[in-house]
Amino acid sequence: MNKVPGSQWNASETEDAARLHLLSPAEAMEKLGQSSRPVIAYGEGIYVVDTKGRRLIDGPGGMWCTQIGYNRHEIADAIAQQALRLAYNSPWYTTNSPAAELAARIAALTPGDLNRVFFTTGGSTAVDSALRFVEFHNNVLGRPEKKHIIVRREGYHGSTALTAACSGRAGNWPNFDIVSDRISFISSPNMRFAGGKDEAGFLDWLVDEFQQEIARIGADKVAVFLAEPLLASGGVIIPPKGYHARFKAVCEEHDIVYISDEVVTAFGRCGEWFASEKVFGVVPDIITFAKGVTSGYVPLGGFAISERLLEKVSGDKAKGSHYSNGYTYTGHPVSCAAALANIGVIEKDGILDHVREISGYFAERLHSLTDLPLVADVRASGLVGCVECLIDRSSADATDIDKRIGARIDAHCAELGLIVRPLGNMCVMSPPLVITRAQIDDMIAILRQGILRTAVEIEQGELV
Ligand SMILES: Cc1ncc(COP(=O)(O)O)c(C=O)c1O
Repeated sequence: MNKVPGSQWNASETEDAARLHLLSPAEAMEKLGQSSRPVIAYGEGIYVVDTKGRRLIDGPGGMWCTQIGYNRHEIADAIAQQALRLAYNSPWYTTNSPAAELAARIAALTPGDLNRVFFTTGGSTAVDSALRFVEFHNNVLGRPEKKHIIVRREGYHGSTALTAACSGRAGNWPNFDIVSDRISFISSPNMRFAGGKDEAGFLDWLVDEFQQEIARIGADKVAVFLAEPLLASGGVIIPPKGYHARFKAVCEEHDIVYISDEVVTAFGRCGEWFASEKVFGVVPDIITFAKGVTSGYVPLGGFAISERLLEKVSGDKAKGSHYSNGYTYTGHPVSCAAALANIGVIEKDGILDHVREISGYFAERLHSLTDLPLVADVRASGLVGCVECLIDRSSADATDIDKRIGARIDAHCAELGLIVRPLGNMCVMSPPLVITRAQIDDMIAILRQGILRTAVEIEQGELV
């Protein structure tokens, strides 16, 4: 068997060790030790190649993170040079040039007065740290009862104890203990659940629901509204126009901190560095980011926070407090150097312009699939989109069989050269941002075949 490039081990040695010794995210425990996942050997542009030699379009962009694509020497060089110059320093006592420079770059790219940046190790820790900042801030302000967090059903915010509890996708919960006494869920802004209302009517209804939930809990007890600009893992749910500005106004009325979770939408995914203001019309109090900040080359996350919020708990008003939240790898010099190089590539290659230019075509090609059986809804913004499949296309909810459709489409597409990241009945596309029109055509042609083959299987009663 061939050696995996860059590795001492061949494919079967890798598979055996993974099967015996890796515990992977979302592991199906019944099959632990019996099967292993495909081994990806290397990446090239928008493609990954597995150890069977299959060259696959990276439809989900890793996990919505491989913005500039694979195999970019600029990032590898920046990582190597920084690792040799300074691989690490303790962020608790010292700082380093890449972390400081990156904070300044991000402060310049974020909207409003979000001019200070805290770095973490990924998206979950970014959201967790932002929530902990709000908790800290309310305690310092002498209002410890203002702790409640309002989130949306179908939202996803991470995998720490607190961020998992804030995630409204019920599939993440079974067999975990979830902190629930200070978190509440309001509706997903999915037009499919609008119950016949038009966009404006649905928005009024959603705002009213939010206000009622604040009144139920008591405005003096609600600390945070935490929201993705579009609900990515929920199936690329794009809220009605004006949604975020209306919700922000309600937050301002009740002194509630508005956190925009841009772990997916930042760094070009929606054609802007940050989507909150320029795409969704809101200047939040805090923005969280991760994923695209390094295009997935190394782990990094963080949040940018408004000066207005910091001002309330700093200087004379700090009352001797310390924001004692942090990680060994906060502001890691190698990760920050990779992020600076990544921002450099996005600028040099005009990737934001490219996304803005090509996103209409991407949406149009995805929508062309609505002539197929199974395709119930298509949603897209920037270079992220979702094809939602249902056997009964008029139904609002997915059945158990519907939830297995994505896996079948994924299997067919893998044979044809495309990775689909199925979320039950939803095929989410979030390809590297450097994808071309011709590559979008390839991707959609394969997806079309995958859906058609699955529809035939269903017709023949093979998916029961
Ligand atoms: C919106 C959002 N927030 C947070 C996270 C968690 O990020 P990570 O997996 O890097 O911890 C994710 C992951 O997909 C996400 O989509």
